Amino acid sequence: MKDKKFTVSDLKAFKARGEKIAMLTAYDYSMAKLLDDAGVDSLLVGDSLGMTMLGYENTLQVTMEDMIHHTKAVRRGTKNAFLIADMPFLSYHVTVEEAVRNAGRFVREALVDAVKVEGGVEMAETIRAIVRAQIPVVAHIGLTPQSVNVFGGFKVQGKSLDQAKKLIEDALAVQEAGACAIVLECIPAKLAKVISEKLEIPTIGIGAGPDCDGQVLVIQDMIGMFKTFTPKFVKRFAGVGEQIEAAAEAYIREINSGAFPGPEHTFGMDDEVLEKLY
Ligand code: KIV
Repeated sequence: MKDKKFTVSDLKAFKARGEKIAMLTAYDYSMAKLLDDAGVDSLLVGDSLGMTMLGYENTLQVTMEDMIHHTKAVRRGTKNAFLIADMPFLSYHVTVEEAVRNAGRFVREALVDAVKVEGGVEMAETIRAIVRAQIPVVAHIGLTPQSVNVFGGFKVQGKSLDQAKKLIEDALAVQEAGACAIVLECIPAKLAKVISEKLEIPTIGIGAGPDCDGQVLVIQDMIGMFKTFTPKFVKRFAGVGEQIEAAAEAYIREINSGAFPGPEHTFGMDDEVLEKLY
C-alpha cells in the first residue's frame, strides 16, 4: 500500500527519474480498493468496460452515463492512485464545447484526476480546450478502439513508415496541446521507444513493448477472467477466472450434498422458543 497520493506532477517526475508507472483498469469499488491497496500508481476506468462489464463487442455503445456510474464507484475505492476516466465515443467528437462540458462532468460528478481521449493531431484542439478548463488530459494513440470501424478491426498500428511518422506527429501534437501523459496501444516496440524518447510526458504502453515509461493492462485480462481470448500483449498474472469457476462448482456440490451451510454458518435459537412454534 502506498501512503501518498499520486498526482499529475508525479507523471513527469516519474519519467524524469526513470521510474516506471504501473496502471491498471478498474470498473468497480471492490476491485479499485484491492488495486489501490496493492499500490498501483494509476487506475483507468477504461471504456473497455463496454466489453468487460457490459458484454458489448466493442467500446462504441458505451455512454457518458455508463462511464460516470462506474467511475463514481471506482473513485470510492481509490485513495492514492491517479484516477483517469475514458471519455466515451461521441462525448468529445461533436464539438469542443461539448467535450469540455463532458470532461467537466467527470471532474464534478466522479472526482477524477484526469480524463483520457483517443486521437492525435485531430484531437489537439479538443485536448487544448479541456486542459484550458483546468482538467488534465491523457491522450491515447495507436490502436484506438473507438476507431475500430475505420481500422477494419483490432490491428497493430504504425508498422509502415508513413504510419510510424504519423504516430510520432500525433504524439508531439497532443503533448504540445497540453496532454499530461499518452497511452500507446498496439504499436511496434521500437516505435514506442522512439516516441518515448522524443516526448517529455510519460508514455504508457499496452502492447507497445518495454521501453514505454509505464504500462497499463485491462484488469480482467491480467488476472485471467476471460477464457475466450487473450491478446498477445497480455501477461496473465493470475488465474482468477479458473478459481471463480472452481469455487462455484464446489459451492453447487456442497449445496447438493448438504455440506453447506454447516453449523458454523447457522444461527441458533432457544429450544423453549422453538417448542412454542409447534
Ligand atoms: O479502455 C481501456 O481500457 C483502455 C486501455 C486499454 C488503455 O483504453
